[in-house]
Amino acid sequence: MENQMKHRILKLKTEKNAVILAHYYAPSEVQEIADHVGDSFYLAKIAKQSTADIIVFCGVSFMGESAKILNPEKKVLMPDLSADCPMAHMVAPGKVEEMRGKYDDLAVVCYVNSTAELKGMSDVCVTSSNAVEIVRSLPNKNIFFIPDRNLGRYVAEQVPEKNVILNDGCCPIHTAIDVNELKEEKKKHPKALVLSHPECEGDILSLSDYIGSTAEIISYANQSAVSEFIICTEEGVAFKLNSDNPNKQFYFPRTRACCPDMKLNTLEKLYKALETEENEVRVEEGARKVALAPLDKMLELAR
Ligand code: 13P
Ligand code: SF4
Repeated sequence: MENQMKHRILKLKTEKNAVILAHYYAPSEVQEIADHVGDSFYLAKIAKQSTADIIVFCGVSFMGESAKILNPEKKVLMPDLSADCPMAHMVAPGKVEEMRGKYDDLAVVCYVNSTAELKGMSDVCVTSSNAVEIVRSLPNKNIFFIPDRNLGRYVAEQVPEKNVILNDGCCPIHTAIDVNELKEEKKKHPKALVLSHPECEGDILSLSDYIGSTAEIISYANQSAVSEFIICTEEGVAFKLNSDNPNKQFYFPRTRACCPDMKLNTLEKLYKALETEENEVRVEEGARKVALAPLDKMLELAR
């Protein structure tokens, strides 16, 4: 049944000159069928370079929106338009203007996990794989980092020469990872290295051997001579970690971090989206133009 559905999707994809992009948190059967699977930065770059007529983005709305902002002439579809990232909305109205009023040289740095409107209020976008590098490269001393306080705090620690002002947003999935459960895993697997996403709380990050984006976590595990790891991020990364490293062991804190929005990307919905072309991501042209500059600046500044 699953294979039949995959076959139908691939056939339709070829007929329509579509490309399927999937984030590492999408269900494994969707990652299996995608043309490109990656972290937010990689997928944004691929979306920008794509020559397909249709981009089907199996992720959450800020990812589909970014693809549309970068490719206004292309049709961007999502299997489920309601797949959203709660953190993308976590900046209080008026907060950016308030901060701009307080500091003359302020740079508003916006994690891509944000709405098009928030991107449009910012100077530059970043993802978890380039935030440190981009903040370090800015001429501004004062940085208002939105919306994620945890990535913001991690960046502040890595770039102590800047005054990074934090905003009180966070990922409800990563912040639910329990430090006591991590300690239990560490006790059970004393040789394992802890690899964590910077969206986790500080107590998790301080027990981590490596901190990086989803793609960076995977690449670290692939290259490491160590064979056991405890992973503090959403469980979807297990698919790639296990398929790349059949002889390595990956453990997760007992309560698995699972992003329900990412799991809305089912094969059935992917097929329907391609067939009907109904689930189109739309960004109003004025808002798109304003949000394009900070996204383009990220692509220019990140190596
Ligand atoms: P990455 O850019 O590391 O893939 O992270 C995206 C995300 O939503 C993490 O929760
Ligand atoms: Fe958003 Fe967290 Fe889900 Fe990532 S894991 S998409 S940050 S809710």
